[in-house]
Amino acid sequence: MTDTLFGRQFEQSYDNLYAIDQLLLKVRPKSIIEVGTGEGGFALYLATFATNNLEPGMLVVTFDPEDRNKTKAFLQESSTHVDFIQASVLEWSQTIQEFIENNKPAIVFCDPTKKFPIAKEVAGWLSPGDYLLVHDFLHPENGGMTEDEAKVIEAMEYERYQQEKWAERGSWLCLRKTNGGLS
Ligand SMILES: C[S@@+](CC[C@H](N)C(=O)[O-])C[C@H]1O[C@@H](n2cnc3c(N)ncnc32)[C@H](O)[C@@H]1O
Repeated sequence: MTDTLFGRQFEQSYDNLYAIDQLLLKVRPKSIIEVGTGEGGFALYLATFATNNLEPGMLVVTFDPEDRNKTKAFLQESSTHVDFIQASVLEWSQTIQEFIENNKPAIVFCDPTKKFPIAKEVAGWLSPGDYLLVHDFLHPENGGMTEDEAKVIEAMEYERYQQEKWAERGSWLCLRKTNGGLS
């Protein structure tokens, strides 16, 4: 099911937006990456949040390989804190890793069409204190990850973070990168 935000299509539920709002306020990320812009409604939410709440200089970067000129235009008009990049996130691996390294903590919202291969790759880019959220958890019919796939990523030194807060419909898997037990 698809909702809208400020009249713009976004594939989120309002219940989960509350959990996301709480997470953003707690973590206060300096960098936010969205993988899979779609029609841009969720990017608009993230940009608005960034404009209103986050540190000066922090940025939302949202990636989608599809041609989305209208989305790009309205995001540019909505906020100076968001960049739309028309590309697969995997093509920007090196640049994103440097950006995240210089703007910590980072939150990545991973919402491409097929989540697991990209989430696994992105999981390797983050360091302790960063968060990786993967959409449509336990909804493989929407390209979401299965429990077994989630365990593969957890084995890369991630722990589930307040997973009980996320609503069922179109839920996010919320993972925090740990230091692997090192103090
Ligand atoms: C489910 S939609 C995103 C919805 C959006 N996040 C929202 O909440 O409204 C998935 C999008 O992921 C994009 N996508 C697929 N592979 C991608 C990749 N490798 N990098 C970035 N985006 C990708 C698709 O083009 C599609 O527009």
